[in-house]
Amino acid sequence: MARYIMTVCTSHHPPNSSCSPPHSSMLSLLLNVAAIWLCASAQNVTVLQQTLAAHGVSAVYPGDITFRNVSKAFNERFTFAPIAVAFPTSVAQVSAAVAAGAAQNLEVVARSGGHSYIANGLGGRNGALVVDMSKLKAITFRPSNNTAIIETGNRLGDVALALNANGRALPHGTCSYVGIGGHSGYGGFGFTSRAWGLTLDTVRSATVVLGNGTVVSASSNVNPDLFFAIRGASPSFGIVTSIEVQTFPAPPSAIVFEYTWNNLDIQTASNGIASFQTFAASNIPPEFGAELVFTAGHKKGLVNFGLTGAYYGDAKLFNSTLAPYLKTLPKTPSNATITPGSYINSVAVLAEPMALNTSSAPDSPNTFYTKSLMTPSGAPMSQAAITAFVTYMANQGFTSDTDWFVEVELYGGTNSAINAVPLDSTAFAKRDTLFTIQFYASSSNGRPPYPNDGFSFLDGMVASIINNSPSNWNYGAYLNYIDDRLTNAANLYYGSHYQRLKSLKAALDPKDTFRFPVGVA
Ligand SMILES: Cc1cc2nc3c(=O)[nH]c(=O)nc-3n(C[C@H](O)[C@H](O)[C@H](O)COP(=O)(O)OP(=O)(O)OC[C@H]3O[C@@H](n4cnc5c(N)ncnc54)[C@H](O)[C@@H]3O)c2cc1C
Ligand SMILES: *[C@@H]1O[C@H](CO)[C@@H](O)[C@H](O)[C@H]1NC(C)=O
Ligand SMILES: *[C@@H]1O[C@H](CO)[C@@H](O)[C@H](O)[C@H]1NC(C)=O
Ligand SMILES: *[C@@H]1O[C@H](CO)[C@@H](O)[C@H](O)[C@H]1NC(C)=O
Ligand SMILES: *[C@@H]1O[C@H](CO)[C@@H](O)[C@H](O)[C@H]1NC(C)=O
Ligand SMILES: *[C@@H]1O[C@H](CO)[C@@H](O)[C@H](O)[C@H]1NC(C)=O
Ligand SMILES: *[C@@H]1O[C@H](CO)[C@@H](O)[C@H](O)[C@H]1NC(C)=O
Ligand SMILES: *[C@@H]1O[C@H](CO)[C@@H](O)[C@H](O)[C@H]1NC(C)=O
Repeated sequence: MARYIMTVCTSHHPPNSSCSPPHSSMLSLLLNVAAIWLCASAQNVTVLQQTLAAHGVSAVYPGDITFRNVSKAFNERFTFAPIAVAFPTSVAQVSAAVAAGAAQNLEVVARSGGHSYIANGLGGRNGALVVDMSKLKAITFRPSNNTAIIETGNRLGDVALALNANGRALPHGTCSYVGIGGHSGYGGFGFTSRAWGLTLDTVRSATVVLGNGTVVSASSNVNPDLFFAIRGASPSFGIVTSIEVQTFPAPPSAIVFEYTWNNLDIQTASNGIASFQTFAASNIPPEFGAELVFTAGHKKGLVNFGLTGAYYGDAKLFNSTLAPYLKTLPKTPSNATITPGSYINSVAVLAEPMALNTSSAPDSPNTFYTKSLMTPSGAPMSQAAITAFVTYMANQGFTSDTDWFVEVELYGGTNSAINAVPLDSTAFAKRDTLFTIQFYASSSNGRPPYPNDGFSFLDGMVASIINNSPSNWNYGAYLNYIDDRLTNAANLYYGSHYQRLKSLKAALDPKDTFRFPVGVA
């Protein structure tokens, strides 16, 4: 019951808000009235304002001129009205903001790059106190042991540039505007991950603000339980203000490859997935990173097939590394773009059309829904599952009124550093992954509204695989592609770590200050 009251409190629409709630109905009106009554003693915006001001924390409130801008979601499928968006400039101010929110019984969330697929950086519903990290952007490289301390207001492109200036690099995703806070809290996959692991695997220590405002360190020696939890489930446990990461030497050369075969028939495209599984199990080097990319073909029954990736090994060995896989695909691609160059050039090419330096302009939003599926290495997709999946993309994918793509990302395969990390050393629950498949559908012009059948379109695509797989198939889902419509989310996201995370949550955030959709509760 206490939990119910808290949930009602977070959905309580802040007074003085100029934004209208996404759905107004008599029921939600009644709930809001009930919530205001239940929460009146706890929530007092005036007190929140006074407390933040007393600690010098600047914040934007509903009705302020910049409120609409600072509370915009990257995914425009969501519009939420936070109670306030705070912009702390120091760890002490982050602490003060969290304590102020907790005292008012508010839902408190961090926002790093704001690229959560379900707008959890805004709280994932109305009424949250958003702690925006964008004023905490220091990156300090220590040559003595090649670690870097990265404050979580940074975005991936800026991190890559700053480390590269020291000849160093980190594994991370391709979109330069994604924030390091969310990315490293839930995973962080890029084409160097088979060699170096996920972003979270590079974290050696962190500074964390807990739900009561206390600032603590976490590492394998200090608060080891918290250290476990923040590497795979950080948003539920605290606001990580900085991470200390182990960097890698920037590879001396890189090759980005982008092949497409347009309008393949179902059989040919299915063979290309099956042979990708076989290729992954052959002796491929860790410096090889890749994904398959599918989009709608030009008529029903056909699909466009892409192979994108980067290779960071000896350039002379690139052709012979890829040749065994290319041999299984049609001889002449519609397009083959091979871009050799420096390491940082590969990061820039993969981020295109966005720049690596994100300070000059914001990136454009989109209106989309995403699902994910992580396939186990021990039980790769069956021929039946692959054929059903490709048939679905070629048929329903042609008639869908969404703009969609599917990425089949290679996490595993021989020599993958992702799989080499012991399962229980971090909260990331799916070390035995061969592919992480991302299913992404946006409205046709990228603007709201999102078409209603866009949900069932992706549900059906995932089901085409699951319904043709063993009933005890041990698949998972990826938290950085977070989906608030998933049934069985706790198991798919947190797997065997869920019980441990639940008891750590009770100890480390007993008042559930960091609460939001699909969190550990
Ligand atoms: C265009 C695009 C491309 C992408 N490409 C990739 C890719 O190549 N590889 C990949 O792995 N993922 C990729 N992603 C997914 C991305 O990793 C996630 O969306 C990520 O969670 C976004 O992090 P953020 O900080 O930008 O988001 P936010 O919305 O700011 O945060 C996401 C979640 O993390 C929490 N959080 C943020 N900062 C902190 C902090 N300091 N401490 C604790 N919790 C925090 C938030 O409260 C929220 O719950 C991509 C996403 C987009 C939109
Ligand atoms: C909020 O707090 C202020 C200052 O303590 C007080 O004057 C006001 O009555 C409170 N409002 C509510 C609704 O509790
Ligand atoms: C909107 O907010 C972003 C940061 O979130 C800022 O960079 C930009 O300048 C703001 N734009 C306006 C018009 O206020
Ligand atoms: C790296 O070196 C710094 C001192 O330069 C030290 O404070 C830090 O603990 C070291 N980190 C690791 C992971 O050894
Ligand atoms: C990005 O560009 C701005 C100015 O345009 C500059 O001040 C900043 O140092 C650059 N950032 C990086 C990481 O290179
Ligand atoms: C790799 O193959 C391409 C043709 O597919 C050729 O142009 C290139 O020279 C080859 N590179 C090496 C290093 O052999
Ligand atoms: C080929 O692919 C590259 C890289 O994706 C792209 O920039 C280029 O426009 C494509 N060319 C054609 C003819 O489609
Ligand atoms: C804050 O919370 C942590 C974790 O629950 C706890 O160990 C610590 O004692 C708390 N600090 C205070 C001042 O209550």
